[in-house]
Amino acid sequence: GLPEEVRIHEVGPRDGLQNEGSLVPVEVKAEFIGRLAAVGLRTVEATSFVHPKWVPQLADAEELMPRLADLPGRHPGLRLPVLVPNERGLDRALAHHATDIAVFASATETFARRNLNRSADEAMEMFRPVVTRAAEAGIAVRGYLSMCFGDPWEGPVPVDQVVSFGVQLLEMGCAELSLGDTIGVATPGQVRALLAGFARAGVPVARLAVHFHDTYGQALSNTLAALREGVTTVDASAGGLGGCPYAKSATGNLATEDLVWMLHGLGVRTGVDLRALVATSGWMAERLGRPSPSRTVQALLGA
Ligand code: HMG
Ligand code: MG
Repeated sequence: GLPEEVRIHEVGPRDGLQNEGSLVPVEVKAEFIGRLAAVGLRTVEATSFVHPKWVPQLADAEELMPRLADLPGRHPGLRLPVLVPNERGLDRALAHHATDIAVFASATETFARRNLNRSADEAMEMFRPVVTRAAEAGIAVRGYLSMCFGDPWEGPVPVDQVVSFGVQLLEMGCAELSLGDTIGVATPGQVRALLAGFARAGVPVARLAVHFHDTYGQALSNTLAALREGVTTVDASAGGLGGCPYAKSATGNLATEDLVWMLHGLGVRTGVDLRALVATSGWMAERLGRPSPSRTVQALLGA
């Protein structure tokens, strides 16, 4: 069966914009986030407190945060998580009153080195004090795990390897674990196999989210496979923006509009006003100077 409702974890302002060639002005980012909240999205990942040289597109996190405090579209229950790689990042996030953070680990060695400048195990040790201190401060922590299905340098990634790193993040204190197909190579059978691996390890499916990229056009099929296994939290990016600057061939995230079109067609509630979301992505595409890659945005804007 399918869930009655899916919680969409919107990543456009972070995963989307971190990969844009052009720098988006901070007031445009704030308006984008406000519009995303206003269309009914309850979780909108806002920015990253990573090293500004590593991700210059999000180097304005300090300027963005105060603008989010009194967003026009802000509704009670709106969550605005921010990415935090280490204690320095946590200090910055705490200084700006973040209430939700996410750490981001890698299931492979090569990507840990490229994205975090350390081995996968060293990266885990970097996150441990972040998660502990965040929990003490009453902050909700999500754990991302990247390269859960395939890695551009290492090829297919064994299920046991992914489960082992994922369980470490959960045992460390992450409330939720997002399984990332960073380069969009997964197919539905692999999704089922990975979720079965987590079930064997005793991880409740309610603690898992899926994060698909649409590189090979599989993101919606993979999402449906995950929903059938009981997943109810799905990451998506408005307009299909994004990728990851440190993963060769990580093109667009699953577009939130494509996800909502499928879910509403299946009778699954999202709380999202699709027309208003499409208008938002159309507006953002104009700011970025290129059309949205989302098929649903193209279809509805052309209609
Ligand atoms: P490093 O160079 O190893 O850092 O980078 P370090 O600890 O050696 O520190 C070096 C200097 O950086 C020090 O300054 C630190 O203070 C400073 P110095 O003392 O030399 O003057 N520094 C910082 N400054 C500001 N904010 C910070 C910070 N940390 C250190 N947070 C580091 C290590 C983790 C910082 C770096 O590798 C980094 O920032 N990486 C982030 C990469 C990134 O953001 N990637 C994209 C997000 S992941 C993703 O998109 C995948 C996902 O969507 C899921 C999926 O699709 O799979 C989540
Ligand atoms: Mg991503």
